[in-house]
Amino acid sequence: MSRIVYVNGEFLPEEDAKISIFDRGFLMADGVYEVTSVLNGKLVDYDGHLTRLERSLTALDMPEPEGMDALLEIHRELVKRNNLKEGGVYLQITRGAADRDFLYPEHPKPSLVMFTLAMTLKKSPKAEKGLKIISIEDQRWGRRDIKTVQLLYPSMGKMMAKDAGADDAWMVEDGFVTEGTSNNAYIVTRAGTIVTRQLSNDILHGITRAAVLRFAREAQMQVEERPFTMDEAKDAAEAFITSATTFVTGVVEIDGVTLGDGAPGPVSRRLREIYIEEAEKMAV
Ligand code: PDD
Repeated sequence: MSRIVYVNGEFLPEEDAKISIFDRGFLMADGVYEVTSVLNGKLVDYDGHLTRLERSLTALDMPEPEGMDALLEIHRELVKRNNLKEGGVYLQITRGAADRDFLYPEHPKPSLVMFTLAMTLKKSPKAEKGLKIISIEDQRWGRRDIKTVQLLYPSMGKMMAKDAGADDAWMVEDGFVTEGTSNNAYIVTRAGTIVTRQLSNDILHGITRAAVLRFAREAQMQVEERPFTMDEAKDAAEAFITSATTFVTGVVEIDGVTLGDGAPGPVSRRLREIYIEEAEKMAV
């Protein structure tokens, strides 16, 4: 049975879903997206993703597509029709089809596309083993707080990591780590403080980041939101990443330097446990 996807008001088998070649998402990367994780058939932190989606639309002056008022129902229907127990829902809104022009069309008709992603999230082998990270220069544009579909540089970054025998890359700008190619980046200092870059236009405001920092503070862990360097990262007791598809995943090697005993550290393992427990509780 083929996957059922959602395109502009219709649920269709994926092979029947079509978008115009004039869609500005295709021609100009004029689109935004969200990935919401699914645990036990339920959506994790749906409100957080919806709020960020609305923020991205506003930042690009992109009107809401039809179907926005029923977005939660569409998510649920898609999960149900695909019998998805664990994974994610990918959602993309573009400014829609228009004659090619750098100026936004005067009467845009935005597109809404959604599909499910089957993934093993809780018992992920990568999370058990921990990730190897390399550093690369951050060559993305300056509005990384908007979750746009222009993901070519992050794609190149993942390829650079793969070619170097690593799992992912952390991006560095003016000597400081911004974030991972598709996740937020953290270190745990030898004194036990969790450090991650503060929110600004330089990074995506991760929904998982917000939840994890809240849980860390509730568990009386020390948190500092400030930039850190790769030297500090290589000297850290632990490191980890967060995202909707990786939750909290330990980093065990940075630019060839092994952290701790080479396994995910106690702080990241504890935060992963807390996050999964809370995510299951808050899922809708
Ligand atoms: N990526 N930073 C970047 C650059 C990201 O692309 C992502 C998410 C995050 C983490 O955000 P959140 O916790 O809200 O997932 C940080 C998604 C998962 C993706 O592109 O597949």
